[in-house]
Amino acid sequence: MTDSHVSNQEPSVPEQGEERQHRRIKSFVMRAGRMTEGQQRGLDQGRPLFVLPLADAPVDFDQVFGRSAPRTLEIGFGMGHSLLEMAAASPEHDFIGVEVHYPGVGALLNGVLTQGLTNVRVYDCDAIEVLNRCIADNSLDRLMLFFPDPWHKSRHHKRRIVQPEFAELVRSKLKVGGILHMATDWEPYAEYMLEVMNVAPGYRNQAEDGKCVPRPTERPITKFERRGERLGHGVWDLKFEKLA
Ligand SMILES: C[S@@+](CC[C@H](N)C(=O)[O-])C[C@H]1O[C@@H](n2cnc3c(N)ncnc32)[C@H](O)[C@@H]1O
Repeated sequence: MTDSHVSNQEPSVPEQGEERQHRRIKSFVMRAGRMTEGQQRGLDQGRPLFVLPLADAPVDFDQVFGRSAPRTLEIGFGMGHSLLEMAAASPEHDFIGVEVHYPGVGALLNGVLTQGLTNVRVYDCDAIEVLNRCIADNSLDRLMLFFPDPWHKSRHHKRRIVQPEFAELVRSKLKVGGILHMATDWEPYAEYMLEVMNVAPGYRNQAEDGKCVPRPTERPITKFERRGERLGHGVWDLKFEKLA
């Protein structure tokens, strides 16, 4: 899924009956996907070591990682390219990745094993559940949401993960001064994120003009993004800081 954030590739929408079974509208649709050998190895060998079960009480991550370190959570890491690069570049920092797409989870775990990283843990389920059930309030230094599904059609906008309730849930999990960092290659979604976030209580937009920030150097540039840049396509980064 290197090209997972190609704007015109969206998961197909489930049938109405399937939708009705879930009370909360999900920001994802489970996709079938064939595993490569590496992804399967990642799942087989990495799952027992690095995948955490959904808990019913906030998890003590100091205990999980065996240390107290700055903590970042990434929602929807896709194939895990950014997460792997960031985790390898910041061994003093701990990373929690959340992704529902199993081939992506396998790919990330394969990378974690191959690179011998010890500062990554994974949830292979809905990030909203993870935030609600496993993450203590005021405990994250940063939450990253890179190229979330844009859900282009207006009748699907309700599926976009960025919503006022999402802003409030993330705010409750960030430490004071913690950062929500989002990036998208779909300008209307960037505008929509700004609409939601600029009125969300308890945040300060880090962009001087109240819009987007220049591409932060800590966000790895993907192959897809580099190609898009050459073609003149844009990427918009947004950073919001949690206020006291
Ligand atoms: C368009 S892809 C982007 C992947 C990656 N961040 C990248 O930049 O390549 C969005 C990803 O978010 C995942 N996703 C969407 N909603 C999610 C949720 N609520 N919990 C966990 N993963 C989610 C999807 O499975 C998908 O892999």
